[in-house]
Amino acid sequence: MKLYKFKFRRILNKWLLGIGFKDRVLDFACADAKFTHYFYCSEYVGLDYDGERIASAKSRFPGGGYEFFQMDFLTDPVPVPEKFNLCVCTHTLSHIEEKDHQFVINKLSKCVEDGFLIIHLPSRYFSTCQFLQKNFDVMQSARYGGRLSHFFSVTGIDRVLPSLLLKGFSYLDYGSNEAIFLIKIK
Ligand SMILES: C[S@@+](CC[C@H](N)C(=O)[O-])C[C@H]1O[C@@H](n2cnc3c(N)ncnc32)[C@H](O)[C@@H]1O
Repeated sequence: MKLYKFKFRRILNKWLLGIGFKDRVLDFACADAKFTHYFYCSEYVGLDYDGERIASAKSRFPGGGYEFFQMDFLTDPVPVPEKFNLCVCTHTLSHIEEKDHQFVINKLSKCVEDGFLIIHLPSRYFSTCQFLQKNFDVMQSARYGGRLSHFFSVTGIDRVLPSLLLKGFSYLDYGSNEAIFLIKIK
């Protein structure tokens, strides 16, 4: 496993242990639901607009408290009206235009009642990170990356080179600089 993925999993596990496992979890966007085992929840709802991934998630987790919906989060209503006590959005905001980040985060926060929101994004989305810090009750936040990410970020290389070029460094486990937030929602 690459170093930055290992760090992500370590932080997620630590925070989930810290807040106590929650019974109703919403995962946007779940893809093929590879993170379900982290949550130990009795009800897990996964959303994604990729039909193939949703079909694969459904075949891996047929019933038993797992539900998956194909939807475009930017345009479709959330298909489950009941509120959740944990909502997660990981490795997904980088697939969504930055101008829509605040809309997505606000919409996700409305799905939670008396619970938590976990948002992960590349830390280059500075204004989205600031939006989270200013407008939400951020209980924990962390930054992490792969072996070269610290060097690239202090020298400013990651701001000059587009991330596509930097992907060429993935064999060195570059890993972009990542940020993750744990937010309390009343
Ligand atoms: C890299 S995957 C993230 C999977 C998982 N959350 C993780 O942490 O590995 C990003 C997912 O976002 C989904 N996605 C992107 N934009 C979306 C949108 N507007 N509505 C629903 N799903 C979207 C893609 O289909 C893709 O499965």
